[in-house]
Amino acid sequence: MKHSEIVAQAHPNIALIKYWGKRDARLNLPAVGSLSITLSQLETCTRIARHAAAPDDCVYIDELLLDGAPAETELRTRLQTLANQMWRNNGPPPVLAIDTHNNFPTAAGLASSASGYAALVTGLDSILDCHYDDSELSTFARIGSGSAARSLYGGFVLMDKGLQEDGSDAIARPLLGADEWPLDVVIAVTSTTSKQTSSTDGMERTRATSPFFPAWCAGQETDLAAASSAVRARDFDQLADLSEYSCLKMHGLMMAAQPGLLYWNAATLACLHEIRALRNRGVGVFFTVDAGPQVKAICAPGEGDAVAAILGEIDGVITLHRAGLGEGARVVAAR
Ligand code: DP6
Repeated sequence: MKHSEIVAQAHPNIALIKYWGKRDARLNLPAVGSLSITLSQLETCTRIARHAAAPDDCVYIDELLLDGAPAETELRTRLQTLANQMWRNNGPPPVLAIDTHNNFPTAAGLASSASGYAALVTGLDSILDCHYDDSELSTFARIGSGSAARSLYGGFVLMDKGLQEDGSDAIARPLLGADEWPLDVVIAVTSTTSKQTSSTDGMERTRATSPFFPAWCAGQETDLAAASSAVRARDFDQLADLSEYSCLKMHGLMMAAQPGLLYWNAATLACLHEIRALRNRGVGVFFTVDAGPQVKAICAPGEGDAVAAILGEIDGVITLHRAGLGEGARVVAAR
């Protein structure tokens, strides 16, 4: 059925076994697989309205609002290209108006592009009446942003690197439901300025210049297999060891690029030491850090309050966000 307006929601996700590097930059194909958790609480909500037929033979986005402000033309063009890749030529192409809101800071290292693209492709699939299957939706989300494919699912999610040249097997798939192992997440925000080097640019620089890149790629499948087993067995200590290993290995790899990528600040490092100290005292918690200075503390069920109390006291921690594990992207309203 054709809808005139829909609302789609998606949550950001955090990789525990990291994606860093592309095997094909043009198709946005990852050089390595990854394993993530989808968060609750933090959310992108995207409303898409369908107007009259477009003047030309393609889908046209005439309005794109991000948190109430008009988006730059470059982003509007990019989303329009994605909408046209999804368009199935089933009737006259429409004009779309898109209004998207995050209930958390955008472009501050909290994975807003993952939830943003996951909500977008889920919403476009509905408003354009496409009915793509899960792997096709995964492909469209991945074209937007590699990590976005993982936000299509809730709980623990695996993203395959895939072997096909066209990327048809580089898809995300669910591993364990959010309610099957309800971890707590505390995010310590240590800077509110936008990141200096985007993930896309940073990955390309790393692939081209870091001497550790081949070793990073060679070790990833072993890490993914071990982490998947730890998730299935709900083995927190094992998952903690593997996640911190993947995080520090990724940052080591980035630091060895030329020029080196250094995303941390002093408060980032202070949080990492504090989380290690907590874990040594028997608290179920481990850290992970993405391409930015924010620290994500992943806590065993029920440990979030204790961890938040300690991280909130660290010099340089500006705010804390709390989350649990959340659901995948979905359409929440349609008319
Ligand atoms: C460090 O998915 O943002 O957060 O595919 O270029 O859009 P693009 O990159 P993106 O990279 C995420 C990198 C990371 C690790 C991860 O989420 O796996």
